[in-house]
Amino acid sequence: MTKQWTPDSWRAKPGKHMPEDYPDAGALAQVEQTLRGMPPLVFAGEARQLTHMLGEVAAGRAFLLQGGDCAESFKEFHADNIRDTFRLILQMAVVLTFAGGKPVVKVGRMAGQFAKPRSSATETIGGVTLPSYRGDNINAMEFTEDGRRPDPERLLKAYGQSASTLNLLRAFAGGGYADLYNIHRWTLGFVDDSPQGARYRELSEKITEALTFMAAIGVTPESQPDLHRVEFFTAHEALLLGFEEAMTRVDSTSGDWYDTSAHLLWIGERTRQLDGAHVEFFRGIRNPIGLKCGPTLEGDELLRLVDALNPDNIPGRLTLYGRFGSDKIADRLPGLMQATKREGRNVVWAIDPMHGNTLTAANGYKTRPFDRILSEVKSFVEIAKAEGVHPGGVHLEMTGQNVTECVGGARALTEGDLADRYHTHCDPRLNGEQALELAFLVAEKLKEERVEMVRHAAI
Ligand code: PEP
Ligand code: CO
Repeated sequence: MTKQWTPDSWRAKPGKHMPEDYPDAGALAQVEQTLRGMPPLVFAGEARQLTHMLGEVAAGRAFLLQGGDCAESFKEFHADNIRDTFRLILQMAVVLTFAGGKPVVKVGRMAGQFAKPRSSATETIGGVTLPSYRGDNINAMEFTEDGRRPDPERLLKAYGQSASTLNLLRAFAGGGYADLYNIHRWTLGFVDDSPQGARYRELSEKITEALTFMAAIGVTPESQPDLHRVEFFTAHEALLLGFEEAMTRVDSTSGDWYDTSAHLLWIGERTRQLDGAHVEFFRGIRNPIGLKCGPTLEGDELLRLVDALNPDNIPGRLTLYGRFGSDKIADRLPGLMQATKREGRNVVWAIDPMHGNTLTAANGYKTRPFDRILSEVKSFVEIAKAEGVHPGGVHLEMTGQNVTECVGGARALTEGDLADRYHTHCDPRLNGEQALELAFLVAEKLKEERVEMVRHAAI
């Protein structure tokens, strides 16, 4: 790997899953030039703050909750959708904080999560073969030659949508909506009458009681303004390096390069080649970054990647998301955790229980069984405990909408239910109720861990 890094040094390396079939390379270059002149979406100081908070996760003192759509779309862009996913994250964070007794770092897979790696470059329907849909910032889902042709103008539209999404998220996070005194109002209509809704109401009663007690002893929103707001961060898979390069700027306060398209960016399982374009790009940006770790990754390769991406071993710089599948995690994760622990690498270990548990139902829908998702999360916490590693967080594909995309959960959605409200633009997401149920179950695991730690400390 050459030492010299520039925002475009990735261009000399092989890059996977980026479209090569833009009909007009000049038009693409023009759009990238326009993007270079656009305001940054995030500020470097915020990215540094997230690195610091993830450093707390790496040290075992906090927990990461990351979630949102598999792929955002132009069609589903609506204030209600943004609000619903945001408040679902708030609800889940409350559940996890209460049980784990640790701060929860909240990161939305939002405001930029458009581009998707696809297992096949083409799709054939009824004897017609066309390029695959790659995400709304590249081409259209519509199965026509025109729709599937990459169009650079879509990058500008995605930038605009990301900016408005982020604007609303910032307003919600800081403008009073996320006020802990509003905890009762964060409920989602369709979850209200479910067992999860009832459990959440019970929890919010307890928190409200605690707030009343705190106010009585002088801890009020006036003395603690943080009770009125939350820190909320954005993240996406930085797949389209031309776009990411255009958003990468020198931070005037530190002189370092930051990719200002989101606070946290991650490298997907399919683009994590050590000598590839993505690793090259990521090694030069100073944002907190993530790396997906799938079932074929070996410990020595992981260590080489960790060294390339975090040579100074900065806590919070690098989050590893295991995504093995509920049937493979027990075989694959222990060796990887042993490798990072043995070599003293400061990383956050988190779990993405979605991408290793996808299957196609008999009726053709891509789905994920809730019990497999849950099983992978439980195995993750148990393996981490056995290896002496902090189970640092979860990365979920989920939505605040009442969709029917993953089977199972308390309402036992069946394959037959999938057709009812299957809206995802890519992979199946947990709906609000399933996501909250998962949060309660993870919370129980974290509570066991906390109780055990207290017991050990007492011995
Ligand atoms: C994703 O997070 O949407 C994704 C494609 O994940 P992975 O790279 O782990 O398959
Ligand atoms: Co996905």
